[in-house]
Order: sequence, then structure tokens, then C-alpha cells
Amino acid sequence: MLQVSGIDTYYGETQVLFGPSLTVGEGEVVALLGPNGAGKTTTLRSILGLTPPRRGQIVFNGSSITGKPTHEIARDGVGWVPDDRRIFPTLTVERNLAIARKKTAFRAWTLGEMFEIFTPLEYLMKRECENLSGGEMQMVAISRALLGAPGLVLFDEPSQGLAPKIVQDVMKTVERLKQEGISVLIVEQNAVSALGVSDRVYVMDLGRVVHEGPADALLEDASARQQLLGM
Ligand SMILES: Nc1ncnc2c1ncn2[C@@H]1O[C@H](COP(=O)(O)OP(=O)(O)OP(=O)(O)O)[C@@H](O)[C@H]1O
Ligand SMILES: [Mg+2]
Repeated sequence: MLQVSGIDTYYGETQVLFGPSLTVGEGEVVALLGPNGAGKTTTLRSILGLTPPRRGQIVFNGSSITGKPTHEIARDGVGWVPDDRRIFPTLTVERNLAIARKKTAFRAWTLGEMFEIFTPLEYLMKRECENLSGGEMQMVAISRALLGAPGLVLFDEPSQGLAPKIVQDVMKTVERLKQEGISVLIVEQNAVSALGVSDRVYVMDLGRVVHEGPADALLEDASARQQLLGM
């Protein structure tokens, strides 16, 4: 579903990605871990065309998306749950979700399904987003991604700042996506939570992939986790 091959990405003249490669299969959940500043967010931004790589290739669902504008990549079916959530603060939840709808080659989720996954959402529809709690905001951000009919969802630290119960709900959503055959690439500081729902894992450091393998192996190997992630 996704093939990232040897991308070099820069901010201005500063190179921050040095050729990382990774793949995500159909219906596969892949964790992307690593310390602060490793280049995880930049990898997601490269896939989305927000910070296009200068070298390398990105293929989504069989076609190259290298160099495509972000709105076309979204229409191709790449969904995004950004680390800062990027909800329109002065719009209601209902409005934020309404403008997220689009047609892609993949299944469009319904509002009813979102209410089933995140029960509080139904009662928040008329609220302005600037008044939402962090957890409520994350429900809106994930729902927005799914209403956009993605074939692949990129999560950037979805558990950041959330209570354990909400983190569980987020990870359950990732499992649900997998059951539906949707592919997921999940960046997380909470390595144990992410590894628990992932098939495979990549660890980045200093703009490079420094480890790749099955998620359960890293979950079970505390000393490798300590060495790679310091946790
Ligand atoms: N807009 C930017 N302009 C210049 N440099 C940036 C910008 N965004 C990130 N960087 C630099 O690029 C490198 C990779 O940053 P990135 O945000 O991708 O890391 P990360 O792995 O997501 O880290 P974190 O876990 O802290 O979110 C860092 O050295 C960072 O300082
Ligand atoms: Mg980041």
C-alpha cells in the first residue's frame, strides 16, 4: 500500500532525512518509533507532500505520489491525524467533520460509525472546537481522517497528552482499521501501546532507519527496546 524508498528531505538547506525506506502492506499496522528529532514527523510530512523529498520515491496504492500536491495525495486516500490535530477552532465539531468528507477509491466511513467508536462525539456535534478537551479534540481529528475515506492513515503521536482510557480507545480504533483492511503507519512515543497493535516496527534516529522487524519481538525484548528507544 505504501513504499517509501530512500527519501532525502530538507528544511531549507538543512537535510533531516537521510534515505529512510519503509513499507506498509494492505491492512498492515506499522509503528514508526524513535527519539525526539529522529525525523518521524518529517517522514509523515514527506509522504503527505507537505515537505516533499528532494530525492527518493514514494508509491501509494501502486502509483507514484512523489512530488504530488498534498490535496491530491489526500484524494488518493492518504489520511492524516497530525500531532497538533489541526482542527478549525472556531467551527463546530459538525462543521469540521462535514468539510472532511471526500470520495476516494476507498470506503467512506459514516458518522454513525464514528459515534459508535467514540460515543461522546454525538453529543459534541454543536460545540465549537476551541472548547474541546484534548481527548475530545483527538476524537474529532481521527473521525475527520476516517470520514475522508482513507486507504492508509498516518497517525502522529495520537496518544500524546491523553488519559489512559482515551489512549486505549485510540489503539482500539487502530485495531478496527486493521480489521477493515485499512493500512496504518503510527508514530508514537508510547512505544509499548503502539507495538501492542502493530505488525511491524521501524525505529529511526538522526534521519535514518536504525532498526526494523516484527513488533512483537521488540515488545518482548526489553533490553533491545532500552537500547533503541531508551525505554
Ligand atoms: N519546520 C522545520 N524547520 C527546520 N527544521 C525542522 C522543522 N521541523 C523539524 N525540523 C528538524 O528536523 C529534525 C526532525 O524533526 P521531526 O519533527 O521530524 O522529528 P520527530 O522524530 O518527529 O521528533 P518528535 O518526537 O520530537 O516529534 C529535527 O532536527 C528538527 O529540529
Ligand atoms: Mg514528531
